Amino acid sequence: MHGRCGMRSGMEAQPYATAPAGSPRLESLRVEPLLTSEFDADPAGVYERLRRTYGPVAPVGLMGVPVWLVLDYHEVLEVLRDDSQWRRDIRYWRARAQGQLPRDWPLLAGYEVRQTMFLDGDEHHAARLTHHSALRPFQDGHSPQGWELRAAVARYADELIALLAAESGSAGYADLGAQYTRPLLLMVTGKLFGCPVGLGDELVMDLWRMLDGGPDAGPATDRAAAVMTRLAAHRRQRPGDDLTSYLLLADPGMTDEQLGRELLMNAVYLNDITGNMVMNTLLEVLRGNATVRRSVSDGHLGETFHRVALVNPPVANMCFRFAAGDVRLGAFWIRAGDVVSPSAAAAHQDLLTIGTSPLGDATASTRAHLGWGAGQHQCPGAARELAGMIVTTAVGRIFDHFTKAELTLPADQLPWRSGPVVRGLRLLPVRYELRGTPSESHPVPPPRHDGEAPDTAPTADHRSRGLLSALRRLMTGTGRAG
Ligand code: HEM
Repeated sequence: MHGRCGMRSGMEAQPYATAPAGSPRLESLRVEPLLTSEFDADPAGVYERLRRTYGPVAPVGLMGVPVWLVLDYHEVLEVLRDDSQWRRDIRYWRARAQGQLPRDWPLLAGYEVRQTMFLDGDEHHAARLTHHSALRPFQDGHSPQGWELRAAVARYADELIALLAAESGSAGYADLGAQYTRPLLLMVTGKLFGCPVGLGDELVMDLWRMLDGGPDAGPATDRAAAVMTRLAAHRRQRPGDDLTSYLLLADPGMTDEQLGRELLMNAVYLNDITGNMVMNTLLEVLRGNATVRRSVSDGHLGETFHRVALVNPPVANMCFRFAAGDVRLGAFWIRAGDVVSPSAAAAHQDLLTIGTSPLGDATASTRAHLGWGAGQHQCPGAARELAGMIVTTAVGRIFDHFTKAELTLPADQLPWRSGPVVRGLRLLPVRYELRGTPSESHPVPPPRHDGEAPDTAPTADHRSRGLLSALRRLMTGTGRAG
């Protein structure tokens, strides 16, 4: 899947304009750092100020490195769609090639993981086909694999709610991040990837460190990649009905390391991004009006999902693109090899304020969101189907089981994690009341206090108790990455 560099041999022959001599260069501009506490609290306010100051494209600093942040819908779409001008291969990045990035720049570790997202042209096309065929069996509930995965997501959700009831009672307080969404997505990842042992919260924290550029982003990336490489080697020996085995089936030439890198990228989307979409959707429903709540009880989460992707996309700023040649974008000339980050969150803000959306009525405009990306690198169709199923099941099960769920903090005081790419809730604290007990369908016994292992053959109760202690381990480690 990953041969030599995907840079097109004809690239030099393509006629590019040349930036006028006097136009400012990215590295010569004074940039304001993007990742500030103001940005954590109010990214929309920051985008708006940048837009007022610079127009549709603004120079910003990302941990000491200047980057063009693309803010307006039209320009973001242009960058996402024109993949011959806007390349993904990190070797196009002039500052990196010329050794101008700070040593140990924390965001570089993730970008150096060479996988589908950072490939161009034919190499990228082949890698996408591999993903398509490996994901297809899970795409909908019509295949045995798809059906089983759906059933597993619902079962895991029920088990986690039963665990909550066993630990905190049928009414009480819960953090739907640490006690529900994160363990749920880890269980789903373990199932989809065919992990022989449960994945732990350490993996989530390492993914956060990589994405957010924590101080130990490099070692964290290596650790997460090593977990995935071991899994790849295991499934090569013992193939099963899982994504890892299907990726190998689709491209048997992949080494364990290559497959490990592909799994790492999928783990980011499945765990962190899909998890944030669950949390953002839960939040939308919790603070929502009667219409949103009714849509949940009617089982029509689809529109809410699109609205969340529009007002609060988990992939807030998309991964870097590099200019193949000089080009004018917004009020600036971008030079060949410059880095840009297209901001879905800022583009959506622009789309909403345009008011007269390009697609007319308000319902249609929610579908114009860039939450899945756009162009050649957009989220594959099968992955979207899968993500949609996970989000609607995870959110749906909460409101099936809870008669009452209220935020315990005002919505504007919820703690957000705002990295260069992802915006997601750190916590989602609620006061809840359960309808009956979920243990009626999935019994969870009261915790034993004698510390003794049962000496009978495993029953559903005993399995639940094993799950209980495994999940307790998962629920630790809610602190900020890095
Ligand atoms: C709600 C959940 C999800 C959201 C919001 C989402 C969003 C995105 C976005 C915005 C991109 C493009 C990024 C860019 O161009 O810089 C992308 C790409 C991708 N996503 Fe998703 N995704 C989700 C779930 C998933 C899942 C569950 C999987 C797989 C299990 C997945 C697999 C991929 C892959 C393989 C790519 C790379 C495509 C390429 O570069 O050609 N995504 N996703």
